[in-house]
Amino acid sequence: MIALVLLMQPRLLMGADWYPEQWSESRWEADAQMMEDAHLNVTRIGEFAWSALEPSEGKFELDWLDRAIRVLEKHHIVVVLGTPSATPPAWLTAKYPEVLRVEDNGIRVTHGGRAHGSPSSPKYRELCRRIAEVMAERFGHDPNVVGWQIDNEFGYALMSYDSVTHRQFQDWLHARYGSVDSLNTHWTTAYWSQTYDRWDEIPIPVGEHNPGLMLDWKRFVTATWTDYVKNQIDVIRAHADPHQFITGNFMGLGFDGFDHYVVSAPLTLVAWDDYVGTGHLNPISNGLSHDAMRGLLRQNFWEIETQPGSVNWSNLNNSLDKGEVRAMAWHAIGHGADEVSYWQWRSALNGQEEIHGTLVGPDGTPEPLLAEVAHTAQEFAQASDAFRDTHVVSPVALLNDYESRWAIEWQKHTDKWNTLGITREYYRVLRHMAQSVDVVSPYAPLDGYALVVAPSLNLIPDKLAQHLMDYVRGGGHLVLGPRSGLKDEYNALLPQRQPGRLGEILGARVEQYYALERDIPVHGQLGAGHASVWAEYLSGNASVLLRYGAANGWLDGQPAAVTREYGKGRITYIGCVLDASTLDSLAAWMAKMSHVQRVFGPVPDSVEVTRRVGNGNKHVFVLINFASRPRDVTLPRTMWSVLDKRQMRTLHLDRYGVSVMMSDQR
Ligand code: GLA
Repeated sequence: MIALVLLMQPRLLMGADWYPEQWSESRWEADAQMMEDAHLNVTRIGEFAWSALEPSEGKFELDWLDRAIRVLEKHHIVVVLGTPSATPPAWLTAKYPEVLRVEDNGIRVTHGGRAHGSPSSPKYRELCRRIAEVMAERFGHDPNVVGWQIDNEFGYALMSYDSVTHRQFQDWLHARYGSVDSLNTHWTTAYWSQTYDRWDEIPIPVGEHNPGLMLDWKRFVTATWTDYVKNQIDVIRAHADPHQFITGNFMGLGFDGFDHYVVSAPLTLVAWDDYVGTGHLNPISNGLSHDAMRGLLRQNFWEIETQPGSVNWSNLNNSLDKGEVRAMAWHAIGHGADEVSYWQWRSALNGQEEIHGTLVGPDGTPEPLLAEVAHTAQEFAQASDAFRDTHVVSPVALLNDYESRWAIEWQKHTDKWNTLGITREYYRVLRHMAQSVDVVSPYAPLDGYALVVAPSLNLIPDKLAQHLMDYVRGGGHLVLGPRSGLKDEYNALLPQRQPGRLGEILGARVEQYYALERDIPVHGQLGAGHASVWAEYLSGNASVLLRYGAANGWLDGQPAAVTREYGKGRITYIGCVLDASTLDSLAAWMAKMSHVQRVFGPVPDSVEVTRRVGNGNKHVFVLINFASRPRDVTLPRTMWSVLDKRQMRTLHLDRYGVSVMMSDQR
């Protein structure tokens, strides 16, 4: 039955997050009717409703939720059920105060916010498991429930620093290292008399600490959240139809509290919450987050929350412009989303988020934005068949490594270094060059990519070095950015110079790195430009792509970027942070060396094109004009406009204008 519902579902869904428990039941029908009138066909409910679902310990009240699901069903709106573990009820925290999180300053949080339960508390896990199980028993075969969301925004308030968690961390280290001696060796605890004799001497790091300890703490945080999520997945899976997906709503690439590749692994779908906050949609930084979230499970994802015009938590809660919400929805689809959902339908009349943007006002009538959302939802319905079984397929991969990001950010060496900013710059030029980029873990399968770029892969343990060497040997082109290959998996310096074992195939090594006080010139076959923030000079017998000009004496005239063929492929090392235009030249050079072509063709500045590929060589392109003026686009060939329902050769796109073009003639 559920399989049938899923099969009949449109490929592109649009919805809103709704909280029936905040309203009188007599209002539900009106809300569902308004949603249906706005062509919305999915809603997420329940994720903060614990006190309504279990008003006192062990007394479950699920009938109201069933009735809400039935009202939605009547209006052809499918449901994602959220487990309510982000907001434990007051009776629970009063009876079991030990489940409340302790902040890193030692203070226990009080009731009344959210994410106040400790993800590592055994008692809390037991209670979360029970409510998830009761919900799964009741709704695990509900034909109108298409999936589950575990908790809300994992890691929103990362960890508890209580004694139970501390002990768990020590046990986790014990299991990882086996002996304290091994831990002492890998963390080089002889430094500053950090040597440990017993597991219970090891602290939780707060602030700056031993880099090995800090990295293992992050891994423990990752393991804690993974187990926290699995704890609920296990009981849901035991009772639910396998066709119901299980997701979690992540917070994009900006949030790096844990290793997302590990935490997302037990899920069957990745969803994320996409907010602009202050200002307007930046298609590069937002596209990077979309592609990173798609890269977690390397499959299509859902944008399960996005802003209905404005939020309430940013410095300036301006509204997106007219047309921008529609553009943002299509931007998500182009990057691989199959669903877009607005947070939220209507604000509770009280509570911390009273004045967040909504689709319906406090009086229960539509906000002006609802018409734009309804129009976009109609377009989704119209385009749904075109997107069926389509996925983003990219010639290029950008490697995203949380451990390297932490390692660098903890020892930045210069406050001008911005790991995410550098990643974004590489992403910008790669998108421009290929118009489709995958953002994946360095451990992901890489065959199939003509080009793989790692902007700052600081940690390259042996296993990873081997994986990357295999990629190059097999014919790939690996490009490493500055700070690559300095450390091993314990966050300890490698006994080789950068880039560690990859130096063997690069035929070069980093002689020294320098944090720069000012920009310095670079020149070579990629043109003339400058390096900023960071510069490493290389030596060896690889061919030199760029050299430094006059700088600090040490760098003057030395190689800044080198490349070498190895096996059937190539490895390139860029030792500095390049200016935007030299980075563009680098991208053009990489495209030439790796035979990467744009998946669409030339588009005017500020027009974003994304592509999804389906069976039978079907290509669906989404074109969006993010420029402040209209743009004309000449298509590479005649294509079918999915929204205009006609063949076209040229497009005129107003500001925030969107076109969906289909072609199967490649
Ligand atoms: C997050 C949460 C939502 C809501 C929105 C507000 O994404 O998941 O519950 O608080 O932020 O923007």
